Amino acid sequence: MADLDRLGITAEALAQMAKTPDPRMREVMAAAIRHLHDFAREVDLKPDEWLAGIAFLTAVGQACTPYRQEFILLSDVLGLSRLVNVMHDATGREAAGTETSLLGPFFREKAPEFAPGESIAVHSTDGEELVLFGTVTDAEGKPVPDAGIDIWQTDAHGLYDLQANDPEVMDLRGRYRTDAEGRYHMRTVKPIGYSIPMDGPVGRMVQQQHRHGMRPAHIHVLVQAPGHRELVTALYLGDDKNIDSDTVFGVSDSLVVTPAKGLPGAPRADVAAVRYDFRLSRLAAGETGGRVGADPSQMMPAAQ
Ligand code: BEZ
Ligand code: FE
Repeated sequence: MADLDRLGITAEALAQMAKTPDPRMREVMAAAIRHLHDFAREVDLKPDEWLAGIAFLTAVGQACTPYRQEFILLSDVLGLSRLVNVMHDATGREAAGTETSLLGPFFREKAPEFAPGESIAVHSTDGEELVLFGTVTDAEGKPVPDAGIDIWQTDAHGLYDLQANDPEVMDLRGRYRTDAEGRYHMRTVKPIGYSIPMDGPVGRMVQQQHRHGMRPAHIHVLVQAPGHRELVTALYLGDDKNIDSDTVFGVSDSLVVTPAKGLPGAPRADVAAVRYDFRLSRLAAGETGGRVGADPSQMMPAAQ
């Protein structure tokens, strides 16, 4: 019988899993075991701490609903989502392609469609009007006509529609299309910075770590066009006081914008506007896109 001491248990666990037929699963699980055991040895994990960790993960799972993905939130605040994003970009994003950002836990499939210039602020109309315009091109600057652009954001109180009384009602989210020259024109209200959900286990952990829990004001963007890599990104408002301390590490310099009136080519001169030209990367052969995130409702096990 193997000697199951501090190190022997790791070797034995790895040996039992060594016949896993799927090579990627074998690789990932072996690395997970090695790091997990190293972690326990490094901190000399005590029984009550081990149990507290299990209770925490149990609470994270219990907080998940079709409208809330507490595990993605956990990954976000730990910096894991950003890390996966960065590594994913390193393989698929062309150098001139727009940088990506987190999808976050509030994305929803099948947002309502809007015509150019219509506003996604249908129910929650409080806040300063804001126009977004520009182009969608490929990485060489060739226009991409008929690209789908989803945008979603919080209302003037810092809440997404999914956090409102009736999460079935979609608001402040919508889908636009580029015209024949790859141009788009969207309208919304200026988002404000907001707190990640603090009423669950992840929020309690963030509080214990003395972090502010805020995200700088931003508008999420998802651009899709056949033959191109899906672009999951966000535009961050540069005047937000937390622009350099995002709790979920989503900000990149190239995604920071400053609304202004009277921009050249702006569809309306009387409203603050942001011009942003999105550049899509080519979809490499065999690549499916692979967004780092999902609609929470798709992550729930089917009802028995
Ligand atoms: C968001 O941008 O909506 C978000 C992203 C990660 C965690 C919480 C919120
Ligand atoms: Fe967000």
